[in-house]
Amino acid sequence: MSDPAVALRGVEKSFRGHAVLRGVDLAVARGETFTILGGSGSGKSVCLKHMIGLLRADAGRVSLLGTDVTALREHAWVALRRRCGMVFQGAALFDSLSVLENVAFPLRHHERWPEPRVRERVAACLEAVGLPGIEAMLPAELSGGMRKRVGVARAIALEPELVLYDEPTTGLDPANARRISELILALNERLHVTSIVVTHDLDLCFAVSDRLALLKSGRIAACGNVDEMRGSANPDVRAYFEGIQDDGEVREAEGEAHGS
Ligand SMILES: Nc1ncnc2c1ncn2[C@@H]1O[C@H](COP(=O)(O)OP(=O)(O)OP(=O)(O)O)[C@@H](O)[C@H]1O
Ligand SMILES: [Mg+2]
Repeated sequence: MSDPAVALRGVEKSFRGHAVLRGVDLAVARGETFTILGGSGSGKSVCLKHMIGLLRADAGRVSLLGTDVTALREHAWVALRRRCGMVFQGAALFDSLSVLENVAFPLRHHERWPEPRVRERVAACLEAVGLPGIEAMLPAELSGGMRKRVGVARAIALEPELVLYDEPTTGLDPANARRISELILALNERLHVTSIVVTHDLDLCFAVSDRLALLKSGRIAACGNVDEMRGSANPDVRAYFEGIQDDGEVREAEGEAHGS
């Protein structure tokens, strides 16, 4: 793939001697919606954090939006992060700041917009996640699902080229989960945003993904489009999908013994 939005090549990462990533290879094309599936503790969040420089690989290379970021210095990350949004697994809001301040945070950090423009943008982002008019509320006053959606609103505030979503629908009711799927699709269609989605929500996965990959034992065990993966004879893929369908949860729990 020439000029991918994100590429990981042979990425390895261990924590205290426990190998989590053992040579991850993946490339996500610009404008693509790419989903990473895998059991709890398989290293999905760790993968996302490598893409955006929150973790550094022990070995291998990472490129982001045309830049080799494997050893990028922190000051050089500022301009690149301006172009990326991240929805963290726990919503990771600032508890002492209002919803307005939370969503406006990246705008104020990276831009010097006049206040009315900031407020207009915040209002549009809250509208997009189905929470219009909640600017004055504090995170403690919100339900878990609302916090999650405020996290999504913050991630898209700067109209990023690339958005990383770590379990964006966990804890949402079906209507709001669908709203997140529609938002990912709309960002892709209108603005050609590249999306990388980590999820256990197969409805979301099948609705938005151009391609999906299964992370298992520290490597990409399989990768393909929705039809290829759903029809895959790969035993790891079958076991993953059947494990989810049996009990709505991910049974495979590799790595959990290590305290994920
Ligand atoms: N900063 C860290 N320090 C030490 N260990 C870590 C760190 N981050 C992740 N790990 C370990 O790496 C493994 C993979 O964690 P990760 O959060 O990527 O799992 P995951 O696939 O996202 O799981 P889940 O679906 O439950 O979110 C776990 O064993 C976890 O304990
Ligand atoms: Mg995770």
